[in-house]
Amino acid sequence: QLPSYLKILGEKYPIDGTTNVTPAILAKIPLRLHTQKSHPLNTLRCLIESHYPDFTHLSSFSPLVTPYKNFDELSFPPDHPGRAVTDSYYINRGMMLRTHTSAHEVEVFRRGDTKWLLTADVYRRDEIDGSHYPVFHQMEGACIFDANEASMKEVEGDNARLAQQLARSNIIIEDTPHISPSNPPQPTHDPRHSRIVAENLKLSLNTLMLKLFGGVAGASTENPLRVRWIEAYFPFTSPSFEVEVFFQGKWLEILGSGVVRQATLDTANVPGKIGWAFGLGLERIAMILYSIPDIRLFWSTDARFISQFEEGKITTFTPYSKYPSCFKDVSFWSPQNEALHENDFCDLVRDVAGDIVEDVKEIDRFVHPKTERTSLCFRINYRSMDRSLSNDEVNDIQAQVVTRLKDQFGVEIR
Ligand code: PHE
Repeated sequence: QLPSYLKILGEKYPIDGTTNVTPAILAKIPLRLHTQKSHPLNTLRCLIESHYPDFTHLSSFSPLVTPYKNFDELSFPPDHPGRAVTDSYYINRGMMLRTHTSAHEVEVFRRGDTKWLLTADVYRRDEIDGSHYPVFHQMEGACIFDANEASMKEVEGDNARLAQQLARSNIIIEDTPHISPSNPPQPTHDPRHSRIVAENLKLSLNTLMLKLFGGVAGASTENPLRVRWIEAYFPFTSPSFEVEVFFQGKWLEILGSGVVRQATLDTANVPGKIGWAFGLGLERIAMILYSIPDIRLFWSTDARFISQFEEGKITTFTPYSKYPSCFKDVSFWSPQNEALHENDFCDLVRDVAGDIVEDVKEIDRFVHPKTERTSLCFRINYRSMDRSLSNDEVNDIQAQVVTRLKDQFGVEIR
């Protein structure tokens, strides 16, 4: 018998047909890894904060927000896919777990902060593998200026100084135009102001990338840091950009950014301003800087993980032995014409097995021509990061997964 409400951070929330948070997710909410001394995510946060010494540094906002705040206030259209219950976690119809730190832009601008960084845990329903976890950490940065000539002159001065600093460093930047027909300035903005602000955003982040990755690559002329700027789209910025960093032969997406939409600043009641914002994922960057091979490790309480880190220091993680993995397949018929969503399957597995699930892959899918039912087969790869799993233990967990599948989703095991 389930209670008709959930207790989260000391408050009661009634559940309804929209509720899809699982106990495994709720258990993460109080942990706030980005504030735990000597945790790599906390050290990385502090390192980024030190790049913006005159910004307000925020890190204690509750992850519970209204869908209005997470989406509508930021100009997301009513039919945006991120709103779906298959993509986001809902406490109930009126309350969800934030999917990004941008959810706090309006309230922080409204209280009068013009230069700020905000670090927080964010939640997204996703597949399971070594680099995806339904809870991760983001850092939002924003800076707004007076939209007048005197203030833009100052920004240009700042830009010249930052450009000089970059010219002396081992960094190669592949740029994209600050504004263009496909990445336009906003109608209410003087295009020249928009260009100056976009340039300031890029310069500020290029120097941040150099600070973060300059030791990994970019230490020498033979091995320069490579950063590229790509035109992007976000409902709450224009122009918009993504930043990628070249690491071990691959371009890695590091952050999203852009010139803040006027509507956001209007809602926040700050007239006469223009500025930029960015949002970056901390785990991705920390995995590179510390050589942490699996995203689950950030949640580990094993002394062999914890004891390797020291407050304020970036060191190379030495993996303790990799324990053997064990995979199990499950095939089933989805009920009627409705195929079970992969994210529903992943949340179920995560809830039963916790962090001993390393990845989940859909390995087969077909629709029966007569009954039109969908047959699905998933392969679950089990591996603990702390110990060897026994076959009996894995069989037992797999049996629980199968039982829950039948009970919760009414599937027919094949
Ligand atoms: N919130 C966006 C994301 O999570 C990133 C972003 C932040 C983009 C700020 C633009 C401005 O993908």
